[in-house]
Amino acid sequence: MLTAFSPKLKICCIGAGYVGGPSCAVIAYKCPDIQVTIVDINEQRIKEWNSDNLPVYEPGLDEIVFACRGKNLFFSSDVDFHINEADLIFVSVNTPTKKSGLGAGFASDLAYLESATRRIAKVATSSKIVIEKSTVPCKTAESMRAILDANSNDLIRFDILSNPEFLAEGTAINDLLHPDRVLIGSLTTPEGIRARSVLASVYEHWVPKEKIITANLWSSELSKLAANALLAQRISSINSLSAICEATGADVDEVAFACGLDSRIGPKFLKASVGFGGSCFQKDILNLVYLSESLNLPEVAAYWNQVVIMNEYQKERFTSRIIKSLFNTITNKNLAIFGFAFKKNTGDTRESAAITLIKYFLRENANVRIYDPKVPKEQIVRDLTDPEVASVEKFNQRVQMFDCPYEAAKGTDAIVIVTEWDEFKVLDYQKIYGEMNKPAFVFDGRSIVDYNVLKKIGFKVSVVGKAI
Ligand code: UDX
Ligand code: ADP
Repeated sequence: MLTAFSPKLKICCIGAGYVGGPSCAVIAYKCPDIQVTIVDINEQRIKEWNSDNLPVYEPGLDEIVFACRGKNLFFSSDVDFHINEADLIFVSVNTPTKKSGLGAGFASDLAYLESATRRIAKVATSSKIVIEKSTVPCKTAESMRAILDANSNDLIRFDILSNPEFLAEGTAINDLLHPDRVLIGSLTTPEGIRARSVLASVYEHWVPKEKIITANLWSSELSKLAANALLAQRISSINSLSAICEATGADVDEVAFACGLDSRIGPKFLKASVGFGGSCFQKDILNLVYLSESLNLPEVAAYWNQVVIMNEYQKERFTSRIIKSLFNTITNKNLAIFGFAFKKNTGDTRESAAITLIKYFLRENANVRIYDPKVPKEQIVRDLTDPEVASVEKFNQRVQMFDCPYEAAKGTDAIVIVTEWDEFKVLDYQKIYGEMNKPAFVFDGRSIVDYNVLKKIGFKVSVVGKAI
């Protein structure tokens, strides 16, 4: 029987994505006495995890994977075998927003989660602790339990825990090594508490006990949605103020700094931008909106929905500012797009503001020349040829991709900074200016460049949240 002190725990993580990969690699790194196998139905992804070129870019991830791979960390596409072998199973599959059917555009598509749960039910021949790691709508654990209970018997039991992952991309390894908290949700039955203590014993290898907190299953699931909603709300709040700043002459960075010094407010997540992206914020808020509506709480739904509306407004507003500055037309003009990832230090493009901005630019028949240091070109092609963004024909006519920012900017009328990559702060803008059409514009959607220096060079500069 499994105890909290078992030295030979076997963990299987279903889903080798941005969450499952780094989070379970860190468990292997910190727990040499535990065997961790990350499985995925996508064989290509598993091949990449087993190669020198990992499919997820995260500072510090390579070192951790290379230190443990083949010792106590394995990547495999033999999903069934490793499910059956494991004591603990993390479910880290994707839960995107539904594109059609009931709740389309708001609710999460739980098909992958359900199929992974059914797989566990089908192949398990011994008891398992099943841990929800993917961000899921509240009460998902209940559906998982219904599926697993229907397949349990006197010899096999399934305990379900919620253990939401709070890592942010780009800082995932640091977030995992030094988490603000680890949250474990469980039933408060003796079995639930026992399962919880087994999982806690994994984290206790490196996380101080007082940071490992427990809650009931529903609180744990809701806390993850709530944390993301509160963070996104701060960004929409500062972005709404950026519109006032641009109209009045206030400077949004000064406003954020002054407000952030109040210890009740704090300085983080107050950086005005072209709008938040990423796989979580929008999805989780829409989930919250859907949940509120289904609980017959329309005012609550409208409140959170406004955070997403403000985010879309910010992207439209930034586009309008660009078009207005470029003499009310960007048709056939050349725009250099600096950055395509949804934030710096990641190659992830999910819900990136770049996609929406480029969609608007292409609708105006502008030509775009994209440079991003980490996003693979095939990913840019996939994102921009989505039928909701542009046709393949338009993409071929209007979009070019570059390996170097200087090449991307050559012959353009404007540079649009979309992602806050550090390298954009230190480019030789004098050289870039010399090779652009005049007047040459810079639109800084992240407020990262020194606009005084650019102005001196001769650029016309617009910065989000500043009336310059
Ligand atoms: C987020 C949460 O931070 C994390 O806890 C959760 O587990 C997953 O969702 P992530 O999406 O990886 O993480 O990145 P985050 O750093 O939160 O940034 C999200 C978006 O907000 C990015 O597009 C970022 O550029 C933008 N952002 C962030 C701002 O525009 N301004 C800010 O001040 C902070
Ligand atoms: P996240 O950001 O939540 O980690 P990703 O899309 O990066 O999301 O990763 C989720 C991974 O889960 C994908 O690689 C996908 O192939 C995998 N996956 C989805 N369903 C299953 C399943 N039933 N069994 C194994 N892997 C799955």
